[in-house]
Amino acid sequence: MASTVRASLGRMGRLNVQQQSLRFSSSGLQVHRDSAENNASTRFTFTEDSMKKVKAVIGIYPEGYHHAAVMPVLDIAQRQHGWLPISAMHETARVLDMPRMRVYEVATFYTMYNRTPVGKYFMQVCATTPCMLRGAESITEAITKKLGIKPGHTTDDGLFTLAEVECLGACVNAPMVQINDDYYEDLTTKDMDTIIDELKAGKKPKKGPWSGRLAAEPLTGLTSLSEEPKGPGFGMQSGF
Ligand code: FES
Repeated sequence: MASTVRASLGRMGRLNVQQQSLRFSSSGLQVHRDSAENNASTRFTFTEDSMKKVKAVIGIYPEGYHHAAVMPVLDIAQRQHGWLPISAMHETARVLDMPRMRVYEVATFYTMYNRTPVGKYFMQVCATTPCMLRGAESITEAITKKLGIKPGHTTDDGLFTLAEVECLGACVNAPMVQINDDYYEDLTTKDMDTIIDELKAGKKPKKGPWSGRLAAEPLTGLTSLSEEPKGPGFGMQSGF
């Protein structure tokens, strides 16, 4: 009995280690550790162009509420630098005149901020239940096979980073992958191959569903609301 329990705990332990290595671990998302490329001395200042955007964003908020601009300002910093080093958080705190800790709290909470370098194409494969049931794992495997990287890793040429993430809100078009700002949906492994080939060739792959659907309508045609609308007064008592 004891050996059976030990064996299952051992299996669970292995599973946890595998799961952690497959996804960005939660401590990796929340904790900062100084590294050669990411420390308070990492060079970062907003460019003139970025500063214009920062000022425009701050201008949206009422007098005295400019701290609320922290999310878009962090986003501007990330788009300028390619990812978000801690020095960019400090610069954000400086331009918004707010404590650094308040910026850390935001930057470490939202997974949209990449606090480690990512490749030119940041591929986030949704691995939550609807996508998983529709073949998300085979999409990840196809990327791994094609690019030789596992989730959490970047190709040697710096072009692609692969991550497995939680629901990206396009479940009805599962399985799907977000690459930078764009969604690629209703994917097969062959579609994924084509998308990677096109990105490598410097092309812009078609965004949205790859199944032929325009959006999220049924593939087999309308399943409801297929009759002509009845018009005003339909179903009302004759006295009205
Ligand atoms: S489960 Fe994949 S987008 Fe929601």
